[in-house]
Amino acid sequence: MTLPDKKTLADYEQLKEKINYHNRLYYVDDHPEISDAEYDRLFDRLLEIEKHYPELVTPDSPSQRVGAEPSKKFEPVRHRLPMLSLQKVTTVEEFAEFDRRVHEALEIKEDITYITEPKLDGLAVELIYEKGLFVLGATRGDGVTGENITANLRTIRNIPLKLSKQAARDYPLLEVRGEVIMRKSAFEKLNHKLLEQGFSPLANTRNGAAGSLRQLDPKITASRPLLFFAYGISHTNLKGLPDQKTTFDFLIKEGFLTNEHIRLLKGIDKTEKEFTRLTEIRAELDYDIDGMVVKVNNFAWQEILGQISRAPRWAVAWKFKAETAESVIQNVEFSVGRTGVITPIAKLKPTRVSGVTVSNASLHNEDELKRLDVHLGDTVIIRRAGEVIPEVLEVVIAERPANSHRVKYPLKCPSCGEKIIRLEGEAAHRCLNPACPAQIEGRLIHFASKSGFDIEGLGDKLARQLIKEKLVSEPADLFFLKKEQLLPLELMADKKAQNLIEAIARSRKADLPRIINALGIIGVGETAARALAEYFGSFKKLMTADRETLEHIPGIGNVIANNIVSFFTVDSNRRMIEKMKQGGVVFPDYVSVKTEGRLAGKNFVITGTLSQPRNYFKKLIEDNGGKVSATVSGNTDFVLMGVDPGSKFDKAKKLGITIIDENELRKMI
Ligand code: IVH
Repeated sequence: MTLPDKKTLADYEQLKEKINYHNRLYYVDDHPEISDAEYDRLFDRLLEIEKHYPELVTPDSPSQRVGAEPSKKFEPVRHRLPMLSLQKVTTVEEFAEFDRRVHEALEIKEDITYITEPKLDGLAVELIYEKGLFVLGATRGDGVTGENITANLRTIRNIPLKLSKQAARDYPLLEVRGEVIMRKSAFEKLNHKLLEQGFSPLANTRNGAAGSLRQLDPKITASRPLLFFAYGISHTNLKGLPDQKTTFDFLIKEGFLTNEHIRLLKGIDKTEKEFTRLTEIRAELDYDIDGMVVKVNNFAWQEILGQISRAPRWAVAWKFKAETAESVIQNVEFSVGRTGVITPIAKLKPTRVSGVTVSNASLHNEDELKRLDVHLGDTVIIRRAGEVIPEVLEVVIAERPANSHRVKYPLKCPSCGEKIIRLEGEAAHRCLNPACPAQIEGRLIHFASKSGFDIEGLGDKLARQLIKEKLVSEPADLFFLKKEQLLPLELMADKKAQNLIEAIARSRKADLPRIINALGIIGVGETAARALAEYFGSFKKLMTADRETLEHIPGIGNVIANNIVSFFTVDSNRRMIEKMKQGGVVFPDYVSVKTEGRLAGKNFVITGTLSQPRNYFKKLIEDNGGKVSATVSGNTDFVLMGVDPGSKFDKAKKLGITIIDENELRKMI
């Protein structure tokens, strides 16, 4: 073992401080001072020292966020002080009643000063700091005992690993509580990626946060975009912190992210107005909230008020009226996706929720089905959130009809009848039979989709017909279709058949990234397909690539590398590629335009509704050498803005980033 000299040691300490400082600027304050490249240089230096002197590495080193080894299970942790729940109110009258009880218990007449903040829809956690170091993090669990998820929490970049010297001295034990959430934008992006890669999507942002945090492999958590919002400390008699407001100021000073909509309000009228305001801005926020938390600000008063059963008498959750409705489950169908993932879908009595008639709702997976204990004929509460397929929130047990049957998960694939299995570590069941008709249909639709061969007019219905009439049994058969074969199909006019044949003819010239994406290799979506095309330049090279080479391509990794290699070793897949060639698919070589082009080196962020889908503009920018990322940061050069821009617009304005519209973008290229 070599010991570092004094200078290296000092360098190391300084580097850790520096990186933690820039981390905070980037992830908490949203105001980076250095470029990503400079940050990477600091990080590389840190890693180098740690490589030479592994014994130096401490848990607060920024290198320790990356993700530790997977664990077998989470150890239970008993909270030193229970994590309470909140009483709920939903109306002005109920809130006034709460305020009256507070006055009564405190025996005072004056208006109470409340502190309000959004009720975040995520997962509650507790972070324990000993002598200023983050040593333990746990879920809320049942409020008394949670699970030790320290390694996973460490991967969340906006959680400070180390507090100031002063805080370490003043509070040798500090328990910070808050909510881990996933932003809506990050959730949508992640779901898009999961779908693209053939995995089942996450149900909502809360499940996104909870599911990501409860992964046994911290590397998965590290790859998920999570945020921690601090909302308090566990005990209220800490020196120098007489109330909730000063506690927030302290937490902010120590580098925690707190919500931007925290307000100190005197009296119930102002508090009511704030609730109305939050109701109005709710949709614009980039995170899900389900109400407003109101707390008595003064800690001494909190103590007088105390608690009843599991909830404090000094706080209340004022919940929004949810966009929910009641419906009845008439049937449950199990749909099979192109990768064999089986999803239970509730067939509902058509019901209007927030302006839209809903007749299907996702039940997600077996765990969810069991949790809800769905019976046929059950009355259920459904919720529609944005564009995603509605979900069943709960079953109204009291209205369950007599003799109703519990919905059972099928043992066999509803499409092909083969056995289905639940793979290790996955929530979903899969049918593993590649000849399964539902999968063939899914693969055909994917093959012809916009990001694949882009065959206009080939949607779900036609795909089903083509398979049913045995005109197509695998995607490559499309390239041998004749107009005369199409004409006898139901609802197929001459013009429509002609258009389809022409669309197929055009698609034979599809470029390499589209071809690779269209194959439907699990894990290889649009992004990976492009990376592969760029790296290999020709289909032949990709087909013969070995695992080691594939693994080292950015964004591929060992799981996907494996999938690719196995895909090309399967005989039927090789035959299909041969068939595509015979059918006239060109398989053109691919020349990357990335480093050239008029937008080379420029970073773009897109927000709002544009005249074409976002992917269109993403491709346009990338084809001209630019890069598109999801979040605005100090590295963003331009924000391309459409109608109704989101929070990215405000952030861009704040950072002084140039904002352009479609016309300006077109002029630039
Ligand atoms: S304060 C004793 N503040 O609500 C009060 N809770 O019912 C402790 N929650 O599971 C909670 N946002 O995770 C507080 N701004 C906020 C919150 C919040 C969400 C959740 C919390 C807990 C539940 C309490």
